[in-house]
Amino acid sequence: MFNEYQHLRIPGPTPIAPEVQRAMNRTILGHRSGEFSKVFKEAATRSKRIFQTEQDVMIVAASGTGALEMAVANVVNPGDKVLVAVTGVFGERFVKIAKAYQAEVVVANFEVGEVADPLVIKEKLDQHPNISAVFVTHCETSTGVANPIKEIAAVVKESEAVFVVDSVSALVGMDLKMDQWGVDIAVTASHKALGLPPGLALIAVSEKAWKKVNDHHGPKFYWDLRAYKKNLDNNTTPFTGPVSLVFGLEESLRLIEEEGLENSFKRHYLLRDMVRSAVKGLGLELLVEDDQKASCTVTSIKGNDQLDVEKLRKVLKEDYKIVAAGGQQDLKGKIFRIGHMGYTHPMDMLTTIAGLELALKQVGYPVELGRGVKGAEEVWANAKGISQ
Ligand SMILES: Cc1ncc(COP(=O)(O)O)c(C=O)c1O
Repeated sequence: MFNEYQHLRIPGPTPIAPEVQRAMNRTILGHRSGEFSKVFKEAATRSKRIFQTEQDVMIVAASGTGALEMAVANVVNPGDKVLVAVTGVFGERFVKIAKAYQAEVVVANFEVGEVADPLVIKEKLDQHPNISAVFVTHCETSTGVANPIKEIAAVVKESEAVFVVDSVSALVGMDLKMDQWGVDIAVTASHKALGLPPGLALIAVSEKAWKKVNDHHGPKFYWDLRAYKKNLDNNTTPFTGPVSLVFGLEESLRLIEEEGLENSFKRHYLLRDMVRSAVKGLGLELLVEDDQKASCTVTSIKGNDQLDVEKLRKVLKEDYKIVAAGGQQDLKGKIFRIGHMGYTHPMDMLTTIAGLELALKQVGYPVELGRGVKGAEEVWANAKGISQ
């Protein structure tokens, strides 16, 4: 019994809605067939709405990193100077990819748990007027900060540079008004707030960025955006498309529209606030102290002398079937992370927090049972307008 029972509370892959799971079970179709093209077209059209863009959205068989590489591979020529805001592991990943494409990388480093400061971005752009692209992570999944994309976009817009946003762990969970804010390339991946298995990436490109892409002369093949655009115009992909994932994507996008994008953002805010309230109620410390800077899709919680986070994660998984993520790189052993995006209901947060309380007690951490659940319930009750 319960061999497959779990509460997958990592920041991706995330739980999958039964409707999406069923859609993916549909009989496979030829990737060049008319039937598949119909689904593909629908998925590509609906994808524009989640990026809040009029531009085309390319559907690519890739993980999130593939989407980051695709962005770099199409706008960075060898020797170009680019700026990367580093707020954690995924900002660093942009640095590594840009270097692999022989860019001269200017790094704006920010403290762990802090957001990228638009003023610092402006300073760097003023110091290096020949920067041709700026790369920023929307939600820095390794810490749980939400970077101020709108404010940074306003700064980058004043320059010649294109603004590239990694919204892999944010899109659908947090607002990204690509056209209105002036984001030039935005990418996301299937296994985060879209609630699909890994393997599919989406990439949206502005007119300003297309000019750069069309002039680009650096080496690339699989990642060549022009090939994806040309094929998209014929409702297909340049290479074999991720057929079953596209079935799932169409259904996932339908569910998002049914909920409404604004309501999805509200639900993600609620999930975040429930977790943060619970953590405070339990006397634990949040890595991102300022609520305004905290991601709506993942929350990092600090360990301490009395709390071994790796032991806690083991107990959570084995005894309570709750899969939480650990810290990455320098944060390994120092924090644990709870993912709350995509197909996640507020009730899931109550379950997770109840399990967390029991696990904390079990590992000998002094908590009063019910304090976390109470904090989360109060937030939910408040959001529902239930008098307390
Ligand atoms: C913000 C962000 N960017 C990029 C990635 C990389 O995605 P993948 O592991 O699918 O390559 C992740 C994965 O967690 C992420 O959270």
